[in-house]
This record gives sequence, C-alpha cells and structure tokens, in this order.
Amino acid sequence: MKVSFYGHVRQYQNIKEEIDNNIKEVLMSGSYVMGPMLSKFEKQAAEYFGCKHAIGVGNGTDALWLSLMALDIGPGDEVITNANTFFATAEAIWIAGATTVLVDCDPQTKNIDPAKVEAAVTDKTKAIMPVHLYGQCADMPALAEIAKKHNLMMIEDNAQGIDGHGDTFKQGEFSSTVCTSYIIQKNLGCFGDGGMVFTDCDGVNAKIRKLRNHGSPARNVHSFGFNSRLDDIQAGVLSAKMNHITAWTDQRIGWAETYSKGLKDARNFSLPYTKPGYRHVFHLYVVETANEAKRESLLSFLNDAGVDAKTHYSIAIHQQEGFPWGKDARTVGSLANAEQNAATCVSLPMYPELTQEEADYVIAKCLEWDSAQ
Ligand SMILES: Cc1ncc(COP(=O)(O)O)c(C=O)c1O
Repeated sequence: MKVSFYGHVRQYQNIKEEIDNNIKEVLMSGSYVMGPMLSKFEKQAAEYFGCKHAIGVGNGTDALWLSLMALDIGPGDEVITNANTFFATAEAIWIAGATTVLVDCDPQTKNIDPAKVEAAVTDKTKAIMPVHLYGQCADMPALAEIAKKHNLMMIEDNAQGIDGHGDTFKQGEFSSTVCTSYIIQKNLGCFGDGGMVFTDCDGVNAKIRKLRNHGSPARNVHSFGFNSRLDDIQAGVLSAKMNHITAWTDQRIGWAETYSKGLKDARNFSLPYTKPGYRHVFHLYVVETANEAKRESLLSFLNDAGVDAKTHYSIAIHQQEGFPWGKDARTVGSLANAEQNAATCVSLPMYPELTQEEADYVIAKCLEWDSAQ
C-alpha cells in the first residue's frame, strides 16, 4: 500500500466543478491580473477572517516582508522569530533589510517561547514575528504582553495556521498583520504560489496595495514598489476552496485524533501536543523520536513501507550551512529545543482526504517500527 503525503488531486476531484467554474469565469472575463476575481476573493477572505482588509500577494514570503516594509521596519531594526520554522520566515526579515533574531521554542508546542523572546529584546527590537507552527497558534497573549511592555509590533506568520484560533483569542487580535501562504501544500492552497496579508489598519492596507503593484495607487502614478500580486486564476481557485476550509480543518483534526489514539502507547516517539481550547489545524502531524539516529530509522522504515513521511524541518535556520551569509542575524541563548526538534521530527501524511484504511496503515507501520526498537 502507498500513502502519499498530500491529497491535492483528490481534493480537486471532490470540488472540481466549483473550481473549474471559477477558472472559466476568469478566463472569459479577459481580466487576469488585479481583476474582479481577485477583488471578490479579497472581500470573501476579509469576511471569513473577520478583519477589515485582505490583500492578495505573490506568496507567503512576500506577505511577510511587504508587511515589514509597510510598517517601516528595515536596516538597523531587529525582528525576533523562531529558530525552528520554515526558512522563509527568517528570509523575509533579511529581504526587508532587518536583523533576524532567533530564539528557542517551547519544548511541548514547538512554538516560540515567550520567555526567550523577552530575553532577546534590545533597544533595536522593532517587532516579534511568531509562527503558528504546524497549525497551532503561538501563545499570542503572552507575546502581546511583551510587545506592549517594550513597544513592539507583531507580525503573525500564519502560513501553516489558517482557520486556527487560540483558547481565548483569534488570529490578528494582537498584531499589525497576519500573513498567510496559499502555496498548494498549505491547508488552503492554490494551484501554484499565492499569499495574503490580513490587517485592520487602513494605512498598512494602502501601503501594501501600493507596494505589491509597482508603487502604484492609480494608473500611471508610481513610487518605489514591487510586483507581487495574487493572480485572478489562483484567486478563483482559492475562492472555491475557501467555502470548504472549516470542514477540511475538522477532517484534519479527526485524522490527528485517529493517529494520536492509535499511537498513544508508542515508546520510541512522542506525539504532538495541543493546548486546551486551541484549534490546532494540523497543517502537519509531527512526531519526535528519541534521537536523530532513530528519526532516520523511522523515516526510512516508513518510506520503504510506502508511507510518504517527511521532515519539517530537519535543519534549524542557524544550523544551515553558511548561516547567516553576510546578513544581520543574532541567536539568543540556548536553541536546544529547536535543535532537538530539527534532529528528531517526522511528519506523517496529513490531509483531509486521507482514508481510514490509509490512516490505519500508517499507524500499523509506526507501531511495527516502534515494537522492533
Ligand atoms: C512558516 C512558513 N512561513 C512562510 C512560508 C512561505 O510561504 P511561500 O512559500 O508561499 O512563500 C511558508 C511556506 O512555504 C511557511 O511554512
């Protein structure tokens, strides 16, 4: 049996008519960039998210650095983020010209540890960029207290966390912008690259709209800017898919419960932790083995058995070769939890369209490996 890591084609087949209709509508409109489908999707996304503005951009990385630029964060400024995140989080800070400051994660949730953030604040710190890693919100209320105390802005990296919320808070409640990625493998993914910035701030909205479109607020009028737009075909795909995101998240949570129940007695790897009251959207279901050698052993055992398990992310940012490539960067304190996570993580197949048979097979193979240790 083979269990793939993603279910993109199954998802497309399930809602093919809705997606095809939107794509056809764009094709027949003759308007493919900054057209009516983008406006429609931006309105739909803002309503869904419960914020004033949703701005479609080229990808999730651009959403992050466009936010930094719109907030006037650049050279000489420090931005604090996770050492254990996808590379793009740190990269966006460098693209904006600022200094990336990496701190450790909480050992249970793997999200940024607020105590470590506080210890990293200097008079150059301008912002905190928490990542809702694997789909569970970072501890935003604790981070908000630190931000308030030191007069810092917050920019949420929500590439993995769309449709999630905390126990008492929603995404965006404490931050200037929430940035998401719509790359195909995300929980809400288009057929290529895409991204979005959510904000309640009219000024930030106006700045990002200009920056994404050659600094242009109106035809023939320009100031410094870029080209980073979400094109209308992708907006049409996302508009169709957005109607299903809540149900898809519920299915992901269901598969996570199935895995956690089936694997609860495993002795050689630990299971993901969900904080009470949080809506963890399980972009990834990540287990951790006791050490790196066992991780390689579990990964190859699963791969050999036809289970497409992967690692997210097996090299922490500060451990990448050549770090920081002449860019401005600081690490603060021990990054032991992030390093341990990088060395031991294994992501099991996780998508709404999994079948019971596939989930049972993944569990059986994990247990078979476990009992052979
Ligand atoms: C945590 C995180 N941040 C940022 C990004 C960047 O998004 P994109 O690939 O759309 O640029 C991704 C995913 O790709 C991500 O997982």
